[in-house]
Amino acid sequence: MKVSYHGHSVVKIETEGKTILIDPFINGNPLCDLKVEEQMPDAILLTHGHNDHFGDTIPIAKQSGALVVAPNELANYISWQGVNAHPMHIGGSRQFDFGKVKFTQAFHGSSYVTENNDIIYTGMPGGIMFMAEGLNIWHTGDTALFSDLKLLAERHPVDVLLIPIGDNFTMGPDDAAYAVSLIKPKIVVPIHYNTFDYIKVDPHYFASLVEDAEVQILKPGEYVKFR
Ligand code: NI
Ligand code: MN
Repeated sequence: MKVSYHGHSVVKIETEGKTILIDPFINGNPLCDLKVEEQMPDAILLTHGHNDHFGDTIPIAKQSGALVVAPNELANYISWQGVNAHPMHIGGSRQFDFGKVKFTQAFHGSSYVTENNDIIYTGMPGGIMFMAEGLNIWHTGDTALFSDLKLLAERHPVDVLLIPIGDNFTMGPDDAAYAVSLIKPKIVVPIHYNTFDYIKVDPHYFASLVEDAEVQILKPGEYVKFR
């Protein structure tokens, strides 16, 4: 398995034969190294409806035929766009042909702003545990620090943790490092920082605070690889 980072919260997972994109915010993302027209994933997983996560989901799903897995209200909105969507919700898990997905809690908001500035309600925000090939990759989405991160990691030990450190909208470096001490993943990759002025932070400061995991600060296009 290969887990690559593409700026902001964009993560691509490549297993034996399947490609999964999480929160594919490509156009308008100054840190992203991907091109929308080159993406042919088997599945797109969305943590929540905010535009910096929903991103280019619709064109990518249309050109690739990817199944979009999202919180129920967001999945409904996506299915109205003529895209194949699978609704899930917090606490639920499901085995797909590309791997197992479990939605976890996130303390955040969730809505989508359309081109006409209509605000669509997109349900509760979440995090996503992706389990395949004996590994658990946890993309926590946008969230504050909360103690049940520990509970969830006890239930499902984490190999790679993707955690927001940008502050302002989510945990900052200090809270994120504390979250790592609760979760105890093997590897932690900081995400959701330096994309915009509001979330400018130093990932090396975050790394200096982490004692319980190997920190891998990935540049867009870099990856964690297993076997
Ligand atoms: Ni958000
Ligand atoms: Mn965000």
